[in-house]
Amino acid sequence: MNAILVASNRGPVSFILSEDGSLSMRRGGGGLVSGLSEVAKDLNVLWVCAALSDGDRGAVRLAPGGRLDQAGYDTGALRMLDIPPATFHRAYNAVANSTLWFVHHLLYDTPNMPHFDARFRREWESYQAYNEAFAMALAEEAAHGARVMVQDYHLSLVPAMLRGERPDLRVAHFSHTPWAPPEYFALLPDDVGTELLEGILGADHAGFLTARWAGAFMDCCETVLGAQVDRRGRTVTHAGRTTRIGVHSLGVDGEALWTRASEPDVESHMAALRDQVGDRMLIVRIDRTELSKNIVRGLAAYREFLATHPEWHGRVVHLAFAYPSRHDLPEYREYTAAVQRSAKEIEDEYGTEDWDPLILNVNDDYPRSLAAYRLADVLLVNPIRDGMNLVAKEGPILSPRSALILSREAGAAAELGEHALTVNPYDVSATASALREGLVMSEGERLRRGTLLAAAATALPPHLWFADQLAALK
Ligand code: G6P
Repeated sequence: MNAILVASNRGPVSFILSEDGSLSMRRGGGGLVSGLSEVAKDLNVLWVCAALSDGDRGAVRLAPGGRLDQAGYDTGALRMLDIPPATFHRAYNAVANSTLWFVHHLLYDTPNMPHFDARFRREWESYQAYNEAFAMALAEEAAHGARVMVQDYHLSLVPAMLRGERPDLRVAHFSHTPWAPPEYFALLPDDVGTELLEGILGADHAGFLTARWAGAFMDCCETVLGAQVDRRGRTVTHAGRTTRIGVHSLGVDGEALWTRASEPDVESHMAALRDQVGDRMLIVRIDRTELSKNIVRGLAAYREFLATHPEWHGRVVHLAFAYPSRHDLPEYREYTAAVQRSAKEIEDEYGTEDWDPLILNVNDDYPRSLAAYRLADVLLVNPIRDGMNLVAKEGPILSPRSALILSREAGAAAELGEHALTVNPYDVSATASALREGLVMSEGERLRRGTLLAAAATALPPHLWFADQLAALK
């Protein structure tokens, strides 16, 4: 029985099944996993996650009770749930990633989508079943009075379900995403919106990355549920229960990041990249290939910058690293293709014998990304909307002499905006101007700002972020 539990869709590791049937383990990606991995190990937390792939299912089936740590893997206490693939697919791809993610990041092309029909109802039932599987596993594993930290939009219904099973537990929910404003949240079918909000309000504590997202959640509770909201005291009272609303920004463990970024594999990537680009200035971006990251407009801004500033031709290179994500969704495959098309257009228009204006890489290569951070003169982070964005925090730590261009719609803008060059992510021309401004900024000024950015980025490392939420459950 466990005193502290974490639940999330993606766990700290995933498994790859090779053709000869063997399994290899790798670290999971994304902000949630980077934030939680070390903390969970240090505090001896039991982590409950879903099997995401055939590789994961292969590993789980050989582990007693789904406990990968008990099957000899060095994962920290970890139980992976083998949810039937069709149910998982509908819950993760159709509801969590194609619906809830789109709502919270304002991604719909509304004349066409969303479209809530009979098929959606089946998908929604799968989302309920998948949440139920998590609630049951947590109810089984938790010691009396244990604290359970439920993560993200995949598991919005778990807090209320778990409270029904185990009223002795203290439950927190944390959203790593933005939260939609009420008018946009109202795109969801009324009963679905209500169930989502009531699901999270089943927690004692509902956490968000910024005051802005917490405010949007409270606005939805008031508008959709008619709940009683105390914005100053940050509480929501509904159906006789009160949930505290918390704002917990997430930063980076700077020392651990530096240790990793100083390893020989990163250093050799730095040397190779330097060889490739010479002494030209570098504009860097690093993202999942994700619609909300706004990569296509970022490339368009670089193109406009090259068009309006020919004096920079041959003197700058843009490294755009976009590692693969959510490729089961057609929108994501199409987006990756659109990124590649935009890159090709820039190369065709401006590339010469001795100058590649753009190096796009769509493979996952963590040490290479760390090398790019270290070499950056300008870091471009221009999401349409983002819960926090850890790239904006990791960059200044590894390259304090780089200028940060930051979307005002990223949660990180609340802490970093003052020292960054902030942009409206839809304004391609303004982003192009910011690229130039970053390049011509004196090295002294970049370093002055970068030092302040790095300090802000390391202020709330993951263990403090987590400790704060645990304390809030006392
Ligand atoms: C965001 C979400 C996480 C998610 C990550 C990667 O950071 O908030 O919950 O794990 O993206 O996405 P994926 O679908 O690959 O887990």
